[in-house]
Amino acid sequence: MAQAQPEPAQLAKAVQEIENLDAMRSGLAAYLEDAAEPPTAETMKQVCKPVGMKAMQLSKENGWQVKQLAKKYRNPAHKPDSLAATNALSTFEQSPELMGFWEKETLNDQTGTRYYRRITVEASCLACHGLKGNRPQFVKDNYPQDLAYNFKVDDLRGMYAVFIPDSVQQSVQTALSE
Ligand code: HEC
Repeated sequence: MAQAQPEPAQLAKAVQEIENLDAMRSGLAAYLEDAAEPPTAETMKQVCKPVGMKAMQLSKENGWQVKQLAKKYRNPAHKPDSLAATNALSTFEQSPELMGFWEKETLNDQTGTRYYRRITVEASCLACHGLKGNRPQFVKDNYPQDLAYNFKVDDLRGMYAVFIPDSVQQSVQTALSE
């Protein structure tokens, strides 16, 4: 019986989109860190929220499910969503050199491929993910359950998780063979 294989073009695209997304966050955080003016409450919100919005947009455009997941999460929507995801975070913890990997998975009764990519803490992240007492006021106010602080540079912050359902891959293959 033919088994759906990870479709190279879809995976390659997912890998590239996640690199772009991660670079976007690094750029926004660095911009905030280097700004001459002290950041306002509004500019402060313009680092990780837009990453979440872009992830939703990528999901819609591609028929994927793009998420950020972390054991120490700030937004409870980013809690690990399956045993496989929890294991993937442990794998990244145990293998500091590992940048990413994918595996066949079933998510919400759909078979597919899930691509995981490490998120590493940079110096510019510490303004909001550093010492608990140093977090900006809007973080303290808006995230009462916050766990995403006390990080150090090079710590594992979390991971991106892109689920590509087999049905998306099949529809691409069908379109190509028509
Ligand atoms: C200006 C403050 C600020 C900076 C700087 C910042 N973050 Fe965040 N971060 C947040 C907020 C606020 C959230 C929650 C966003 C939401 O509600 O989706 C968040 C969420 C996240 C998440 C999603 C998981 C979770 O905990 O909810 C990751 C991953 C993340 N940040 C990584 C980083 C990295 C990596 C950097 C540095 C490159 C960084 N952050 C810099 C404020 C910041």
